[in-house]
Amino acid sequence: MRKYLVLAALLACTAEAQNRSGLEFASEEIRRLQASDAENPGMLWVDQGAKLFAQKCASCHISMKGVATRYPAVENGRIVTLEAKVRHKEAFAYESDELLALTAYIANQSRGMPIKVNPPAEKLDIGRKAYYSRRGQMNLACAHCHEQNWGKHLGAETLSQGQPNGYPAYRLEWQKMGSLERRIRACMFGLHAELPPYGSDTMLELELFLVWRANGLPIETPAVRR
Ligand code: HEC
Ligand code: HEC
Repeated sequence: MRKYLVLAALLACTAEAQNRSGLEFASEEIRRLQASDAENPGMLWVDQGAKLFAQKCASCHISMKGVATRYPAVENGRIVTLEAKVRHKEAFAYESDELLALTAYIANQSRGMPIKVNPPAEKLDIGRKAYYSRRGQMNLACAHCHEQNWGKHLGAETLSQGQPNGYPAYRLEWQKMGSLERRIRACMFGLHAELPPYGSDTMLELELFLVWRANGLPIETPAVRR
């Protein structure tokens, strides 16, 4: 009996240690781009974010180091993403270059630092349920691809664990930077599922669960993806 308990504990540990960044599943070309600040196209947004920050935010804020590791947070019962905080004085439009640039600049200051969120269980459970629910005409859940089949090929892609630690990220297909929400929407679109509006509770709950699941993974913003 004891033997099995030890085995179960070991398995639980390996499951935890098995969190892998999407970077590990990316092509050599993409890994090379992401590794070099001179070549990473996402750095253009980070640089733009630094300028905007100096103009609009530096009167109240100095360093944002480590801040990105703590978001999404739950404040007064509401899920607050890093993007929501970036918009707390000026309501930049979702997916606007300004919002992406400022968010990327702030997240980049935590590059290499592990994600560390600790949301209340009741919020997490709603996101977890969404993650394991089948959706769309394809009738698949996020977990079908990103938990049960990572490492396998889907057309030209290699399925990763669908981790959020590189966002906002530069996607070659978009030819620009995009948010985690945009990436999730692309997956939902692929499933022919209904797309919840930007900033909606459904999206926030799913994001919260994704980031909690990624606890311990280092932030990579700006990641480069296919
Ligand atoms: C007038 C002062 C002021 C300005 C200007 C301002 N902020 Fe803030 N900001 C605050 C205060 C006060 C807090 C802490 C309270 C809160 O979290 O809302 C804060 C919190 C934050 C946080 C969360 C920090 C943390 O440690 O969790 C972020 C991120 C942030 N602001 C981003 C920005 C950005 C980006 C801009 C510019 C577009 C900006 N702020 C402009 C006053 C300001
Ligand atoms: C049919 C399979 C499939 C399903 C189901 C699916 N995705 Fe994806 N997802 C992909 C593919 C393909 C990619 C791009 C390659 C990769 O990173 O896996 C991707 C990428 C991602 C990424 C970006 C990972 C990175 O490192 O850039 C995230 C985050 C993500 N998915 C979240 C989700 C969420 C949340 C759901 C559920 C709403 C979901 N996915 C459902 C196929 C799927």
